Amino acid sequence: MKIALTGIKPTGILHIGNYFGAIKPALNLAERYDARYFIADYHALNSMKDPHELKKCIFEIAAGWLAAGLDPEKVVFYRQSSVPEVFELATILMAFAAKGLLNRAHAYKAVMQENIEKDNDPDAGINMGLFTYPVLMAADILLFDSDVVPVGRDQTQHIEMAQEIARMLNFNYGEELLKIPQAVIEEEVAVIPGLDGRKMSKSYNNTIPLFASEKELRKLIMRIVTNSQSIDEPKNPDDSQIFSLYKLFAGKEECEALAARYRAGGMGWGEAKEELFRVANRGLLPVRERYNELIAVPEKLNAILEEGAEKARVITAKTIARLRRAIGIAF
Ligand code: TRP
Repeated sequence: MKIALTGIKPTGILHIGNYFGAIKPALNLAERYDARYFIADYHALNSMKDPHELKKCIFEIAAGWLAAGLDPEKVVFYRQSSVPEVFELATILMAFAAKGLLNRAHAYKAVMQENIEKDNDPDAGINMGLFTYPVLMAADILLFDSDVVPVGRDQTQHIEMAQEIARMLNFNYGEELLKIPQAVIEEEVAVIPGLDGRKMSKSYNNTIPLFASEKELRKLIMRIVTNSQSIDEPKNPDDSQIFSLYKLFAGKEECEALAARYRAGGMGWGEAKEELFRVANRGLLPVRERYNELIAVPEKLNAILEEGAEKARVITAKTIARLRRAIGIAF
């Protein structure tokens, strides 16, 4: 089977947009590929310097993916930091990553641009972890001979850089030492609207957390912005973010029945929100319960991740041995 690999940065709490836009597609992909999904904790360190916060985020993200259905028997699920070969490969790749290539990275350039606009030193707040982020990411990917890397569109440049660095190394030694990976972009099945109608995103502060309590879920749904159509007026379900969210949780027949009620008029936005809450809560209840159970026992989460790391290291030890021989470091 071909290999799919992706890294999950432990930042912020998971929301419904993450679930339908990234987690579910990645778990579907894991049905057809040998999947290696890991928590990119050293990538997070660049921006997260509070140890309690970092630790909390790591456990939350691990519990989140497991609660969402990741089966650690099927997917190799581990923390990047538990696999030292990642960092050795990153060091090897440093020797092949052109500074000029990294200068062009969007993530780093955006911070620099912001500094320039604010009349700050262009390098203010930029650490080498941010600058060399694409090299560490290339190591994550190339170490596992990954065929495909499911990522959001914002990560395409990073994958292209991983390809470029791998090609440079392969060219130097005249052999295909590293497999050239391909990005699999999650073509958004549907943009998941947030509370204000814009795309659901942490940066817009318009999210519905995946593990919100029933009470919080209800409160957030009631806050969804609507237009001023009266109860009697017929409504267009295809033009309603409440209905778009409803479709994520409801079956086909339920959707058709509710769409008909939208069109007929006589149902106000308040009731439409109640219907959404009902199906959303029904769908999220088991996920929330699993999450709460998992997060309550961090030792168990830790053990799952450590087991994953052991499996990962069987693979990575081989890649590193192969490379050490090829580059002339090992006898
Ligand atoms: N950069 C990715 C993000 O911010 C996370 C990541 C780290 C990653 N290493 C990776 C993704 C390797 C795919 C493959 O989302």
